[in-house]
Amino acid sequence: MTTDPLRTLVEGHEHVSEWLSTMWEATGVLDGEDPADILRLQTFLRTHVMEHFELEEQVVFPALLRLDESQAVSILVSELRRDHVKILGACSRLFRDLAWAMANDDSAESLTALRGNARELIDTLLAHAAREDAHLLPLVAQHKDAIAQVMPAAS
Ligand SMILES: [Fe+2]
Ligand SMILES: [Fe+2]
Repeated sequence: MTTDPLRTLVEGHEHVSEWLSTMWEATGVLDGEDPADILRLQTFLRTHVMEHFELEEQVVFPALLRLDESQAVSILVSELRRDHVKILGACSRLFRDLAWAMANDDSAESLTALRGNARELIDTLLAHAAREDAHLLPLVAQHKDAIAQVMPAAS
């Protein structure tokens, strides 16, 4: 029994946009008075987004590079990897600043800055997912069966 790579990636992206719109717009996770609200964002990034990136980095990108040796694919994968590095760096900074704010009963100004950084990170993440939807997913669809052979079993 193989795992469908296209479906896994599509569901991962849908999950990110649904979670962010629910948590952010509906419950205002970034508008509360308490920096602990941002902890929910941190937990989400740690559990879902980082796991998703790992699957792309460890399985999907190497498989695509093997299956399609064109320069276009090599450039696309390099750009997406660069996005991942940028997003993971922003996550680390956000987690560090959040830990500091919570330990130091931080001022309203730095909490505002923290929220601003979180919003920027979310925008970058959504732009990355949109880029993958437009350029990566059609390639995954094209090589779906071959990539499915190297996908880890669904947990
Ligand atoms: Fe990605
Ligand atoms: Fe992705």
